[in-house]
Amino acid sequence: MKRLLLPLCLSGIFCQKIIAQINTATEQKITVLIKKMTLAEKINMIHASSSFTSGGVKRLGIPELVMSDGPHGVRPEHGRDWDKDLNVNDSGTYLPTGNALAATWNPALGYQFGAVLGSEAKWRGKDVILGPGINIIRTPLNGRNFEYLSEDPYLISKMVIGYIKGVQAQGISACVKHFAANNQEILRNSINVTMSERALREIYLPGFKAAVTEAKVNTLMGAYNKFRGQWCTHNSYLINNILKKEWGFDGIVISDWGAVHNTKEALENGTDIEMGSEFTLKSWTDYSKFYLADSAVASVKMDKALLDVLVNDKVCRILRIMNRTNMFGKRTNGEYASKAHSSTALKIAEEAMVLLKNESKILPLEKNKIKTIAVIGANADKKNGYGGGSSQVKALYEITPLAGIINLIGNSNINVLYAQGYTIERNATANNSLIAEAVAAAANADVVIVVGGWTHGYNYNVWDDNAYDAEGVDKPNMDMPFGQNELISAVTKANPNTIVVLIGGCAIDISQWEPNVKGIIEAWYAGMEGGNALAKIIFGEVNPSGKLPVTFPKHLKDCPAHVLGEYPGDSVNVKYKDDIFVGYRYYDTYQVAPQFAFGHGLSYTSFQYSNLKVQYANKKASVTLTIKNTGKVAGAEVVQLYVQEDTPEVKRPAKELKAFEKVFLKAGEQKQITLKLTENAFQYFDETKMRWVMKPGKFKVLAASSSIDVRLVKSVEVF
Ligand code: BGC
Repeated sequence: MKRLLLPLCLSGIFCQKIIAQINTATEQKITVLIKKMTLAEKINMIHASSSFTSGGVKRLGIPELVMSDGPHGVRPEHGRDWDKDLNVNDSGTYLPTGNALAATWNPALGYQFGAVLGSEAKWRGKDVILGPGINIIRTPLNGRNFEYLSEDPYLISKMVIGYIKGVQAQGISACVKHFAANNQEILRNSINVTMSERALREIYLPGFKAAVTEAKVNTLMGAYNKFRGQWCTHNSYLINNILKKEWGFDGIVISDWGAVHNTKEALENGTDIEMGSEFTLKSWTDYSKFYLADSAVASVKMDKALLDVLVNDKVCRILRIMNRTNMFGKRTNGEYASKAHSSTALKIAEEAMVLLKNESKILPLEKNKIKTIAVIGANADKKNGYGGGSSQVKALYEITPLAGIINLIGNSNINVLYAQGYTIERNATANNSLIAEAVAAAANADVVIVVGGWTHGYNYNVWDDNAYDAEGVDKPNMDMPFGQNELISAVTKANPNTIVVLIGGCAIDISQWEPNVKGIIEAWYAGMEGGNALAKIIFGEVNPSGKLPVTFPKHLKDCPAHVLGEYPGDSVNVKYKDDIFVGYRYYDTYQVAPQFAFGHGLSYTSFQYSNLKVQYANKKASVTLTIKNTGKVAGAEVVQLYVQEDTPEVKRPAKELKAFEKVFLKAGEQKQITLKLTENAFQYFDETKMRWVMKPGKFKVLAASSSIDVRLVKSVEVF
């Protein structure tokens, strides 16, 4: 087919600014194309034509737009319906999940992650990959935290830019989701979220803003929930005012699946494509009952202005993105399930794992000093790629923690004893005979590695079996399920040389046994190479460099969403009374000691911070400091810069992350680094002026290794 040069919008209310940027020839072609289209053809493009496509116009050479989940790998194929396809090659790369990526604090890895995903999506014939998911981690209980990145808007913004650019450099669209305030799975299809304008601007929106204005994301997915009384997917304030007008988003707003509830609002409030499945329809080819299908045709016939302005704007956006992603030309092929992609998955997993505790330097283990290792825990032997809901991935292979340890010790003389310890089953509690077996293994070993934590559910083939870290559910509490507390307590009595590895998408209450174990590693859901990465860290082939992208509170009752705010709200509304005090912004300001602070992560070496200098001019600051590796092995430190206002006029968090850099240093090496603080680093959102403001006065710049491990401080006067 001859390549058509499409963009742009002819009459859309938000397109003026964009039109000015495009070349006239292109504009004319799109004008001509839209003029040739009938109303039915236009409407056909703005709703689903199958489970993961929206309509095309064959006669004009406009293809369907093909979408696929998800955020850490391309979802298994199920054709146009929801029945899994057999005999197709859909076993690909399973990347570490969102919060693991964020734990690397390495934006360059964000790009590599996105590039793998974009390339695999392209190979699989997709146009849009439905990720990244970047909702703020407001409570440890949210079932989808594992897909999301962080509690901190700045960290999210930096990681998301790389991810999106990586995907889109492959000529595939990313789809940032779920816009906005979708921070719990309980009642996600009905709950109405309210919060202050300041919390919205300072906490919940910056990641999306960075995705749109800096990463230039092509598509965005509206959330299921309501915001201030109106469904997010057709929320006039969020989509028309903020996303399209303020931020100048020129791409496509896709509804979450089944998130549209009203034709008029969807037409008027910026929903460009309605996706989902009408499960009551007899035929998978009939999408006529969608809100943006027959009933949209009827509305438009009654009011022709709707067609000229709103429908044309939606079609124009779709054509623009189709053109931008070369859907009318010939694409390169992409690469699938390649060795290079596995290596990227490994690299990310290695940098993602966080060494939380390392008493008496129990880690790294030395191969030649160990005769027997006991590996304990059902999670040590569990594959997770297929779990979690819409983000499920059929992994080409998946190295479990147990397999990774066995791989690494190879044919050395170390003896590995494995004991399951607990069962991952609905309502399972402590199992005395499994505990006894584990205790016997522990007693016979030099060192014990318990692999525990969360799971995506029970049988990953059954949606109703989703539990804990999964779509559609939240965790019932923060307690370790399946009798793991009893197991770990018994094991540590049998052998104090115990290291616990936590699998999961967020914090878990470890208070019952934490003082009794020597080492703790947070391993997340670390993708297909997770077990290899873990083993390399345990045996010191990789020096851990991950840092927590979320605070690990001691107990659920310490969490701001639960103490100050509401969660999950009543059956209708949830009010975010915790306001801007999300994550460490709360713990640090209200002086609640966490189990492990935001930004915490140990290394097998040590780092010294010195020579902090802050130079301020033109509302920006340039911050330099020297960082030295003072230990015996190479390693990486994430230098975090927090900003603190001395005497704020409005309530402000004790500190806020405003810059960071991951610095790689050989043993004994030192580097001077320079970090930039923009004007925004000193600002807050003023609700009366409805804009960001900076109050002239004194601030402190804190150079820190975590939000509570501040190494150097310098004052700066801003004006
Ligand atoms: C999820 C989205 C997902 C979509 C398509 C929805 O239920 O919330 O994140 O992309 O389904 O599978």
